[in-house]
Amino acid sequence: MSEKIVIIEDDGGVRFFLEEALRGEGYRVFSYESYEAFLSKLDRTVDLLIMDINLPGMDGLSAIDDLKKKIIAPILIITAYGTKKNAMEAISKGATDFFVKPIPLDELKIMVRRVLGKKRLIEEIDLLKEEQFTSHSFHGVLGKSEQMKEIFRTVEKIAEKDLTVLITGETGVGKEEIANLIHVLSKRKGDLVVVNCASIPDALLESELFGYEKGAFTGAVQQKLGKMEIADKGTVVLDEIGEMTPSLQAKLLRVVEKKEIERLGSTKKRVVDVRIISTTNRILEDEIARGRFRDDLYYRLSQIRIHVPPLRDRSDDADVLLDAVLSGFGKESGIVLKISDDARQRLRGYKWPGNVRELINVLKKAAIMCEGDEITIDDLPLHLQGDYVLDTQDYSDRTLEEAIAALEKRMILDALKKTDGSQVNAARLLGISERSMWYRIKKYGIEAK
Ligand SMILES: Nc1ncnc2c1ncn2[C@@H]1O[C@H](COP(=O)(O)OP(=O)(O)OP(=O)(O)O)[C@@H](O)[C@H]1O
Ligand SMILES: [Mg+2]
Repeated sequence: MSEKIVIIEDDGGVRFFLEEALRGEGYRVFSYESYEAFLSKLDRTVDLLIMDINLPGMDGLSAIDDLKKKIIAPILIITAYGTKKNAMEAISKGATDFFVKPIPLDELKIMVRRVLGKKRLIEEIDLLKEEQFTSHSFHGVLGKSEQMKEIFRTVEKIAEKDLTVLITGETGVGKEEIANLIHVLSKRKGDLVVVNCASIPDALLESELFGYEKGAFTGAVQQKLGKMEIADKGTVVLDEIGEMTPSLQAKLLRVVEKKEIERLGSTKKRVVDVRIISTTNRILEDEIARGRFRDDLYYRLSQIRIHVPPLRDRSDDADVLLDAVLSGFGKESGIVLKISDDARQRLRGYKWPGNVRELINVLKKAAIMCEGDEITIDDLPLHLQGDYVLDTQDYSDRTLEEAIAALEKRMILDALKKTDGSQVNAARLLGISERSMWYRIKKYGIEAK
């Protein structure tokens, strides 16, 4: 469909003249004789707005401020002879360009074509970008590897069922991300409540989960709801379930089986309707074998099992995440960051012990280090620049202390090389103090340049 142009002009003659000229070019043209008349319809689907800023009874400049908030189309200004200053101010407020009456028809046609062409180009680029990411994202969770696609398929299938889910995987792979996804797609009306079983001491964890009545123990000055009750009709994520002690595991088992809880200090049973998702970076089967995790609880909690593989085993996802994070930076700062081919290669080949979380952090730091609009190998953290792959062969006949010293010396030499011998900058690069840099330089007999 052809583009829609709106004209706001009080002079009937000029209006007619513009309408005819632009219709002749194949555009759909709508015109209004006053700003109020346009506002009363406020058509946001307009592609270009041509407006006289000297309309009677109206402050044209504040109208532009107003319009910029309401529509995103470019604005061309028509101004009377001798009021060019006004037009310049309009441009500073965001108008695209201006014409002085009498309007030179050929120039107008060319400018309209140019402005609309540019707008279309920008829209096409935005669309392309969006498609690129939506095709590699499942409701906001990124991934295009076969492993992630399989996970997305599972999530889709089980989200609306009330089955318990156990999500396993190394730290930072995105377990919480998947738990969140399941909740969002579950259509459960209640909240998603996360309980971190690792960071809360056992005694507190119990009251955190089940709540307590006033006076249940010293310090229980008033009643407090547990996370299980807060998540009623929603989802509870038991984060790091592998850290839960056996006595609490036993209590949890009863809750999972009966779907009812007792607040501490009360014997009243309360029915709760919660979907339970657990996550862990431990191998629970090993924990069971060692007698640290109850197998009956394990089976109850893992009606569905989802394993999120480490990032190093899905480098396609690393690529997608990388582009998404970089374009995210672009949005924040207005600059679109690129990454050089060799830096991308380096990241692809890296082992990512901290998985996606580490990737995001590395890119954030690199974006800060980066001076132009392209991240290069030099902007990456040191351990990603050089080949500090610890080849145990190299160190096999040394003591641990000797091996560490050798690596330390190599990293310091590299950092000094990179900073043209500046000890201060090298220390900063390595994240150590100047004093400790100085100490090591002496220790390893590194000569100043
Ligand atoms: N597939 C993904 N798409 C988008 N963001 C992701 C993805 N996977 C992980 N992330 C992001 O990486 C970070 C770490 O993910 P998350 O917290 O889910 O990891 P985790 O497996 O729960 O780690 P931990 O075991 O340390 O708790 C978060 O900022 C998360 O948003
Ligand atoms: Mg987590």
